[in-house]
Amino acid sequence: MADLELANIDKHYGAVHAVRDVSLTVQSGAFVVLVGPSGCGKSTLLRAIAGLEDITSGDIRIGGRSVTRLAPRARNVAMVFQSYALYPYLTVYENIAFGLRARGETEAHIDERVRWAADTLSIADYLERHPRELSGGQRQRVAIGRAIVREADLYLFDEPLSNLDAKLRDGMREELKRLHARLGRTFIYVTHDQIEAMTLADRIVLLRHGVIEQDGTPLELFEKPASRFVAGFLGSPPMNMLDVTMVDGGTMIRISDDQMLPNADGAAPRADGACIWGVRPEHVRLAAAGEPSLEAKVDVVQPTGSRILATVLVGDQKLTAELDAHSGVETGQRIALAVATPRTVFFDAEGRRVGGAAPAD
Ligand SMILES: Nc1ncnc2c1ncn2[C@@H]1O[C@H](COP(=O)(O)OP(=O)(O)OP(=O)(O)O)[C@@H](O)[C@H]1O
Ligand SMILES: [Mg+2]
Repeated sequence: MADLELANIDKHYGAVHAVRDVSLTVQSGAFVVLVGPSGCGKSTLLRAIAGLEDITSGDIRIGGRSVTRLAPRARNVAMVFQSYALYPYLTVYENIAFGLRARGETEAHIDERVRWAADTLSIADYLERHPRELSGGQRQRVAIGRAIVREADLYLFDEPLSNLDAKLRDGMREELKRLHARLGRTFIYVTHDQIEAMTLADRIVLLRHGVIEQDGTPLELFEKPASRFVAGFLGSPPMNMLDVTMVDGGTMIRISDDQMLPNADGAAPRADGACIWGVRPEHVRLAAAGEPSLEAKVDVVQPTGSRILATVLVGDQKLTAELDAHSGVETGQRIALAVATPRTVFFDAEGRRVGGAAPAD
C-alpha cells in the first residue's frame, strides 16, 4: 500500500515558486530522504505534508485518503522540527507526554508510551530534567521522542541532526536507522547533508529549485546520476568534472592538448566533440607500468588516515584522486594516473548525462 501520495504539488509564496509540480508515491514502511541545497523546497514540502503549509494546487493522500484540506491534527502525522521546539518549563517526561495528553489518552497509556520512547532513545535517565539541563544531543532525542511516542501513519523529520556535532550525528544516524526498522513505519526525512541521505535512505528524492531532479535508490543516484548536478551533490570529495573532447569517433577521450585516454567502456557519446567527463576520486589510481595513463603534477596532498586525497593538475585541469595511504605521493611530484573508465560518466554542456556507467538506461 502507498502510505503517501503527492500529486502535482505546487506551492507559491507570492512571487516565489517554492515547489513545482512534485509528484511522488511512497510505499508503506519506506525511509525516504528529501535532499537538496538550501532553498530547494524541502521544508515547504514536508510542512505541506504535515498540513502546516497550504499548497497552491495538487493533492496529498495519506493511506489512500485525501488530506489536502484537513487540519494538521486530523492527518495523523508526527513531525520532528529542526529547532527541537521543546517546552522549556516542562520536564523531559512531560515534553514527550504532551501530545498524548492533548489527545486525552489515559495516564497508564501515556506512561507506557513515554517510557518506551525514552528507552528506545536512551534518555530514560533524564525524564525528570528540564530541557536546559540537557546537552544538544539529548534535547534532539527528546524532540524525536515526542514524535515517535505517537502512533502515527507518517513520521516527518526536518533536519533533525543538523545541530549536533559530527560524532553525535554519526551515532544518531545509526539510532534513527534502528528506530525505523523497529517502528516499521514510513519515514520522510529532510536533510541537505548528502552523507545522511546516502546512509539513511532506501530512496532519495533530490530536489532542485522546487523540482525533483532525480528519484531513486542511493546507489542509483550515485552510480547513474541523471545530471551533473546530482553527480556533484552526492559523494565526498565530489566527483571531478573534466572538460574533455571525444575524438577518433568517440574512442578516445582528450583531456588536454597532449593527453588522451582510450574510452575503454565505449559508454561515452559516440560523436566527436566536447563534453564533461565525471570521474569519482575513488576511481583514479596510480597507473601500472605500460597502462594507459594521464601525466599529472601533484599540487596538494591531504592524508585522511585511511587514504590520501591528492589534488593534481592534468594539463591545466584540476583532478582529485583518492589514493592508498601508503602510496608515498608528495607535493610537486609527477605521477601517472589511471582511471577506472567503466565507472565514469559523461555530461553534455547542459549537464545532462549522455553516457557512461549505465549507457543503456
Ligand atoms: N513563508 C515564506 N514566505 C516566502 N517565501 C518562503 C517562505 N518559506 C520559504 N520560502 C521560500 O521558498 C523556498 C523554499 O524554502 P524551503 O524552506 O522549503 O527550503 P529548504 O529546501 O527547506 O531550505 P533549507 O535547507 O535552507 O532549510 C525558498 O526560496 C524560500 O526562501
Ligand atoms: Mg528547510
